[in-house]
Amino acid sequence: HAADAHRTDLMTITRFVLNEQSKHPASRGDFTILLNHIVLGCKFVCSAVNKAGLAKLIGLAGETNVQGEEQKKLDVLSNEVFIKALVSSGRTCILVSEEDDEAIFVEPGKRGKYCVVFDPLDGSSNIDCGVSIGTIFGIYMVKHGNEPTLDDVLQPGSNMVAAGYCMYGSSCMLVLSTGSGVNGFTLDPSLGEFILTHPDIKIPKKGKIYSVNEGNAKNWDGPTAKYVERCKFPKDGSSPKSLRYVGSMVADVHRTLLYGGIFLYPADKKSPNGKLRVLYEVFPMSFLMEQAGGQSFTGKQQALHLVPEKIHQRSPIFLGSYDDVEEIKALYAAEN
Ligand code: AHM
Ligand code: MG
Repeated sequence: HAADAHRTDLMTITRFVLNEQSKHPASRGDFTILLNHIVLGCKFVCSAVNKAGLAKLIGLAGETNVQGEEQKKLDVLSNEVFIKALVSSGRTCILVSEEDDEAIFVEPGKRGKYCVVFDPLDGSSNIDCGVSIGTIFGIYMVKHGNEPTLDDVLQPGSNMVAAGYCMYGSSCMLVLSTGSGVNGFTLDPSLGEFILTHPDIKIPKKGKIYSVNEGNAKNWDGPTAKYVERCKFPKDGSSPKSLRYVGSMVADVHRTLLYGGIFLYPADKKSPNGKLRVLYEVFPMSFLMEQAGGQSFTGKQQALHLVPEKIHQRSPIFLGSYDDVEEIKALYAAEN
């Protein structure tokens, strides 16, 4: 029976990526090895997040435990785990983490050809109350061989070779694109393996949900304000959209990917570049959206075409269902 085959033929993330990579004749398994190390980081963070309340990992950075060791906050701990996992893969040369001001250049003996940009634990305001949080990552190939420079990570998002996120929610899910569609894997805790549960994710062409921090409305620009007004009071006789906002980008984007709709973190008078970071928030999520058939826009251009000048640069972002993003693009075009 087909149903039996599903239960016994488990497509793990490693097997899936190995299959995909074997289509490239030049592939030597480096990407699979890198991904395995990222997956290890995600499993570690997942387990730490699940134990957080119990182990009193939360909110104790700077304090010492009975053994006199310093307790680490989850985001600090996650960052260390990812850096060590990525360096020890032997496949990376530059790392950019949201937690570190400077880019990390891997020591020559451990270098490989990939550059990884990541936010080890995004959604910091949700950590202490048990709401979904996540890890976001993007992967570039170093431009020229041996001496990596900052330019290697200041490439437009369209140059990424892969991007993904892991959501630590009611289940732990890893969503990945290597440039040929988007696939979702759920961690089976009894196996410790990510199993393909959401093959070839496509975002609905139009959605019924908008997701934005409306508390910033006072400072929005014209097109954003107009767009959100239209979500609530549609002019074409359609029903108003629902509002959903977790405040964790991974959770808000994940829902948008599966249910459709639009996620906005616009510019406002106080933050003219918005809040979210280009390299490890805007680019990976835009990469996934486009690979799933949606769109991503900065208010000025297609998000993946942006060329970052600084590693922690921010950008406004509007991403989601194709038709919904089309609408906000039209409003910005009309303004100029
Ligand atoms: P963080 O890196 O401090 O966690 O901030 C990023 C988060 C995103 O996950 C989320 O989309 C956004 O900040 C929410 O911001 P706000 O609280 O301003 O709505
Ligand atoms: Mg973040």
